[in-house]
Amino acid sequence: MTKKHIYILAIESSCDDTGAAILLNDRVLSNIIANQKIHADYGGVVPELASRAHQQNIVPVVQQALKQAGITKNELHAIAFTRGPGLMGSLLVGASFAKSLAIALKIPLIDVNHMQAHVLAHFISDIDQKIPTFPFLCLTISGGHTQILKISNYNNFEILGETIDDAVGEAFDKTAKLLGLPYPGGPLIDKYAALGDKSAFKFTEPKTSRELDFSFSGLKTGILYFLQKEQKKNKNFIKENLYDICASVQHTIVNILIKKLKLASKITGIKDIAIAGGVSANSEIRKSLTECQDSLGWKTYIPKFEYTTDNAAMIGIVGYFKYLTNNFNNENTLAASRLKIND
Ligand code: KG4
Ligand code: ZN
Repeated sequence: MTKKHIYILAIESSCDDTGAAILLNDRVLSNIIANQKIHADYGGVVPELASRAHQQNIVPVVQQALKQAGITKNELHAIAFTRGPGLMGSLLVGASFAKSLAIALKIPLIDVNHMQAHVLAHFISDIDQKIPTFPFLCLTISGGHTQILKISNYNNFEILGETIDDAVGEAFDKTAKLLGLPYPGGPLIDKYAALGDKSAFKFTEPKTSRELDFSFSGLKTGILYFLQKEQKKNKNFIKENLYDICASVQHTIVNILIKKLKLASKITGIKDIAIAGGVSANSEIRKSLTECQDSLGWKTYIPKFEYTTDNAAMIGIVGYFKYLTNNFNNENTLAASRLKIND
């Protein structure tokens, strides 16, 4: 007998946000996220504190997700959880909770690759979201990853290019730290950039030996030297030029991303282009992609804001696809901090 209404509880705990979502098939009924503010005091995520906060948050977050969806845990058909990649201590909290609840409820457990989930978040059924057609390219840009992927079906993610050092989210966050902004600095750079002049300062774009790869650590060093040099001349340089610095740095980063994406589209002939991951919340990337629709005839897929940064709904949609093919977790599948996109 095929079940028409599948309720899935999804849990995301790969980094510093504890998320729980309830999906009814491919629709999201609730998508709760508890952000851990504590890391801002330390200028970055402290793994030990993150896993502790997950332990505190996970029960209330799951309860709230059930309540908002208007169902009880006994109505669930399966539980999906993030297997990796991420911080081991954080992943273990979500994985152990999901496993225990699935055993108690006698329902299947489904492990989900966090990076695949960022990409497949595009398949959540939502009136505000277009669903891509295969094959499409996806630029995955987060605090831990920067890749250009070719996606031919739900299970096939070919890496066309990736960062050889820092992820693009790190480039934003590390620059923000140099500017004295709190963690995570990406959203603040975006906000201040809107008030500044993007052509005020020029930064050198790093070179890579493979044309679709990225490199961001050199850019960070370039920004550091630039700030040190300018501050020697004027100790208030950052304060007086904050908006222009943010606008110029953001413009340099977005330029690098869009240039490589255009090249990937030219090489593959694919004009269906998606973005995924936390950095795709960036307003300049969104604007540049929309411009490519007009100038290059691209069909672009930009996820709804709440499915962009880490969230449990994206784990739920992969859980749903795996449920349909009976692709369940076997008890030997463990949390894996270094999971690759095709694992
Ligand atoms: O996907 P995500 O939520 O977590 C990871 O799996 O890494 O991405 C978080 C990253 C952080 O580096 C954050 O600064 C960045 O996404 N980010 C942004 C913006 N919003 C989030 N970067 C630039 N502009 C934004 N608007
Ligand atoms: Zn993520």
